[in-house]
Amino acid sequence: MPFRICFVCLGNICRSPIAEVVMRSLLDKEGLADRVEVSSAGTGDWHIGERADHRTIAVLERHGYDGSAHRARQFLAQSIDDCDLVIAMDQANVTTLQRMLGNDDGAKVRLLREFDPNATGSDVPDPYYGGDESFDEVLTMIESACRGLLDYVRSDVDA
Ligand code: 4NP
Repeated sequence: MPFRICFVCLGNICRSPIAEVVMRSLLDKEGLADRVEVSSAGTGDWHIGERADHRTIAVLERHGYDGSAHRARQFLAQSIDDCDLVIAMDQANVTTLQRMLGNDDGAKVRLLREFDPNATGSDVPDPYYGGDESFDEVLTMIESACRGLLDYVRSDVDA
């Protein structure tokens, strides 16, 4: 079975869809697409079934990615059964997930920026109320952390 990673944010229309698309692209380039499976979900239910925010699709396009296939999902307690690793965008997501999952499954939850040795903070900030430049900053942060996550996962799937 492939190693399964789910990226989680609040709405699943901005940050976690960007992380999913960026990570899938990295895995494709590294020839690891059949070993590692990525998905994304939100802790909130407001946007279930919707496409990614138009600014998410636009920022992905500006940087050479395609986010048009995304449809928002909510992360539920049972979703953990389909995940080896849950990668949260911010501390609030971690708190929500750990309350939902309890100690055992909660141990699968990590913060994305933990994997970026050059990160200056722990959170990928919510760009929802920001402008296009917030989305560009978020994408840059996510690309940087996903390279670290790739190295982490590679050592796991190569072991
Ligand atoms: P995301 O951004 O968590 O990065 O998808 C948000 C999207 C929608 C909302 C909040 C954050 N919202 O409150 O609807």
